Amino acid sequence: MDVLEAIRERRSIRAFTDEKLSEKDVERLIDAARWAPSAGNTQPLELVVVKDKEMKRKLSEAALNQTFIQKAPVVIVVCADLNRVSRGYGSRGKNLYSLQDTAAATENILLAAQELGLATCWVGAFRDKEVAKAVKAPKNMKPVAIVPVGHPAERPLASPKRSVNEIVHYETF
Ligand SMILES: Cc1cc2nc3c(=O)[nH]c(=O)nc-3n(C[C@H](O)[C@H](O)[C@H](O)COP(=O)(O)O)c2cc1C
Repeated sequence: MDVLEAIRERRSIRAFTDEKLSEKDVERLIDAARWAPSAGNTQPLELVVVKDKEMKRKLSEAALNQTFIQKAPVVIVVCADLNRVSRGYGSRGKNLYSLQDTAAATENILLAAQELGLATCWVGAFRDKEVAKAVKAPKNMKPVAIVPVGHPAERPLASPKRSVNEIVHYETF
């Protein structure tokens, strides 16, 4: 599968089979995240790979009871080390680059999973403090996304996307 095909075919999937994920596939997803660009190559990305049932339940609860999260065999919590990125870039690093860098890494995980035939959903609705507590995040470690990963148990239709004409402006708005 080429990158453009992966981008077009990816869907948010919220139902997973009971099949486990191979260690090799988990490693591939982590590696994909690692290769994402980051401001000044500061790489504030930190990942917590969760497989424990009770941990997944806590994350699911922290994510406003989105129960599909705990049904995934693996849940990746994407975090930003705010210290690392603010060291070079101050408040812009802390408030903007930290989110951009980790968002790029999250998208890499989603696309790599697509290539591997795996199902993912980017989850952003959660109580930060509760997630940080569950994964025992050190101070200055901001959870930015939760990504449940598994084998797909559904094949959703593509979500409607705004047309090119609607979103592109040439030279100025
Ligand atoms: C920043 C962000 C936060 C999101 N949070 C959630 C979430 O909390 N729960 C959920 O089920 N989906 C969540 N999604 C997935 C979106 O609902 C999904 O991407 C959108 O509906 C478009 O569908 P598609 O991914 O299949 O193209 C989130 C996506 C992004 C990028």
